Amino acid sequence: MDPEAAREALAAYHRLSSHAPDRYAPGPGRLDWASQPDPFRRYAGAPRLDLPLPPVPLGTPAAALAGARPPPRAPDRDALGALLGLSFGLAAWKQWGASRWALRCNPSSGNLHPTEAYVVTAGLPGLPAGTWHYVSLLHALEHRAAPARPEALAEAWPGEGVLVGLSSIVWREAWKYGVRAWRYCNHDAGHALAALACAAAALGWRTRLLARFGDDDVAALLGLDRAADLDGAEPEIPDLLAWVGPEAAEPDPGALRAAFAAACPAWHGRASRLSTTHVEWPGIAEAEAAARKPRGAVPAAPRPAEPPPPAGLPGDGLDAAVLFRRRRSAVAFDGRTAMPRAHFLALLDRLLARPSLPPWEALPWAPRVALALLVHRVEALAPGVYLLPRGAETPLPAGEPVPEAPAHLGLALVAAGDVRALAQVSSCHQEIAADSCFAAAMLAPLEQALAEGGWWYRWLHWEAGMIGHMLYLGAELAGLRGTGIGCFFDALVPEALDLPPGAADLYHFTVGAGVEDPRLTTLPPYGALEALRREDEARLRGGAGLPSTPARR
Ligand SMILES: Cc1cc2nc3c(=O)[nH]c(=O)nc-3n(C[C@H](O)[C@H](O)[C@H](O)COP(=O)(O)O)c2cc1C
Repeated sequence: MDPEAAREALAAYHRLSSHAPDRYAPGPGRLDWASQPDPFRRYAGAPRLDLPLPPVPLGTPAAALAGARPPPRAPDRDALGALLGLSFGLAAWKQWGASRWALRCNPSSGNLHPTEAYVVTAGLPGLPAGTWHYVSLLHALEHRAAPARPEALAEAWPGEGVLVGLSSIVWREAWKYGVRAWRYCNHDAGHALAALACAAAALGWRTRLLARFGDDDVAALLGLDRAADLDGAEPEIPDLLAWVGPEAAEPDPGALRAAFAAACPAWHGRASRLSTTHVEWPGIAEAEAAARKPRGAVPAAPRPAEPPPPAGLPGDGLDAAVLFRRRRSAVAFDGRTAMPRAHFLALLDRLLARPSLPPWEALPWAPRVALALLVHRVEALAPGVYLLPRGAETPLPAGEPVPEAPAHLGLALVAAGDVRALAQVSSCHQEIAADSCFAAAMLAPLEQALAEGGWWYRWLHWEAGMIGHMLYLGAELAGLRGTGIGCFFDALVPEALDLPPGAADLYHFTVGAGVEDPRLTTLPPYGALEALRREDEARLRGGAGLPSTPARR
């Protein structure tokens, strides 16, 4: 698409999908429960390979995410089981009365989980070469593409490691959220990339987003462009490919695709249909097309210098696998607890894009998303609006440096005062934004970035999602809890800060002392795994799909 037309299509989508106090973006209003999408896609007919469950505890402290990582595990089926299980696997089941729903290590707007995960490998001990689709419900892989000549792929493989691919089934989010859904898919992809990079680091591995690959390359390697295999099923939009392994590698897209084709992959399986009926929301397809990434284009901006290592948090001794499984969204905060200032500052420090630390090592671009922090309850810090620039070029107002903060944070106070009303109202009136210790708004130079290419719409949302993910993990390490907030009134925080029109608010987040809902029971993630796997086999032999599993707001 012509770059100017792409920029205009994305600006139009952004306007249409904006929420304002007097006008929410077009959405369904009432939910059609009969068409609730199945959160677990299957490729019926693709051979299934069960993965060993991740060891929990893993033996790596959470401190490894903010410092020296452990020696790399040998990449084999066990290690891949740990990688996928601790990034995209189930974290728990929740039960309320007769309803039961799964939570995962990666969060998702509305718990709808549009993100699908894939592995492309030249073969690992215990795992034949090809393209595999991950089924988190069964902690198993489906062999979508099995090469007839795996040696052709192995010869071109750039090192020890695998490619992890992500795609989005936009319908899963659109069912509930209408036009704004595609934004949430991109936030979720950012969360998923961060979850992957953190799980990889806990195994001693490195993650790199393969930004030179075009969306067509991603679709071809993951089989998303195989119309016959997805006939009648909801499409999957290619998001990204990342290299994950003991050493960083940067395969060439053309060479890798040629090697994949030369290996003569035979494709297996047909995508399951997730809903009986669908609604087309205006603007999403146009925005997706305008944000497609061609092969090759990569950001030229240099990465910033690495600041000193971040300060510790009280939970750093916790096992990393326990942390990934424990991460949860709060549904309410107590409105009383104040967090120590040192923890607040250490948490913010982990949001700086250090090129040597997960998840930031995965990104090839210099940070573009800055934070406005609406501080309510941090000990020895005046309530008010603060800015964390993160080295991003977002145009921000001047503020007073916070003398207690490490200089490399660049933390500045813009306005002291009670900002609970701004936090709550700007977050679609959600009380969790005001009852917390602090809320955050993520600000980016959207117009400037879109002038460089429509895919920046996705990349900026991914970066925001990654910041959100580090806030989730950091909140747990501070003995608190976080919640991503995708429902916010777009203009309120930029207006309060008097930002120029080209800057946009992309995502909100809030951190505080969570209040548990005593009506909910928590069950282990894979307590009934063997029974589920046997049931799955029996069902597929009988020609039926999986039953739908309910989601939650
Ligand atoms: C992009 C995104 C947007 C979200 N928006 C909201 C929100 O506006 N309000 C809310 O209460 N929770 C929100 N959440 C939290 C989700 O509801 C939560 O992640 C989901 O229910 C799964 O629960 P878990 O995070 O405990 O695994 C959001 C999460 C994400 C990732």
